[in-house]
Amino acid sequence: MSDLKELRKLYSEQGLSQKGVDRNPFSQFKIWFDQAVNSDTAEPDGMCLSTISSDGKPSQRTVLMKAYDENGFIFYTNHNSRKGIQLKENTSVSALFPWLALHRQIIIEGEVSRIDDEISLAYFHSRPRGSQIGAWASRQSQRLNSRCELEEQIKAVEERFEGQPIPLPEFWGGYRIKPNRFEFWQGRNHRIHDRIIYHWSESEQAWKVERLSP
Ligand SMILES: Cc1cc2nc3c(=O)[nH]c(=O)nc-3n(C[C@H](O)[C@H](O)[C@H](O)COP(=O)(O)O)c2cc1C
Repeated sequence: MSDLKELRKLYSEQGLSQKGVDRNPFSQFKIWFDQAVNSDTAEPDGMCLSTISSDGKPSQRTVLMKAYDENGFIFYTNHNSRKGIQLKENTSVSALFPWLALHRQIIIEGEVSRIDDEISLAYFHSRPRGSQIGAWASRQSQRLNSRCELEEQIKAVEERFEGQPIPLPEFWGGYRIKPNRFEFWQGRNHRIHDRIIYHWSESEQAWKVERLSP
């Protein structure tokens, strides 16, 4: 068995306090996201998205956050993929940004909904043509007999749309996560970490901020 004891690191002393954070979790997200973008963190827009199947089993995968504002966090995928099917059955999700180089993570929990096709279309057309073809060609999450089979599907899509703009596939588009809970986690020395959570209070129509024990 591998011995990972030596991986233990001394975490930063840069803390996070209930008073120091922005009252608005989206503003606090922006502060940390901008810091992650300006750091050595690889793919700071990558989030681990957890979904739940109809029989209550969780699954997760990385997707890229393509936009965010106070209405939520947007990602794009295939509606018929494993996650797409689960999202039709259960709209509750969790998304985790693992900014390990900064000793930080943000966890968002909330509900997803499909975004308007016009927004998906605008984003789809902003992607390189090869990615647009890939979206058409890949029956995401379905079994392939070989890489060759996928390459044939790509060739068929290239021929189908040769010389013309590629339309938005009806099976592909964006989702918005509307958060009801945020957790900002800052690693501190000796595992005495900071955890600040925000949860949305329906009765007060306001975000409540609390500290959790690490
Ligand atoms: C860095 C990274 C970014 C990814 N971004 C996306 C994405 O934005 N949308 C997407 O559908 N899949 C993305 N993937 C692939 C997914 O992790 C996953 O393999 C795929 O969506 C199929 O997941 P599913 O079978 O659970 O539906 C990304 C993977 C990685 C490692």
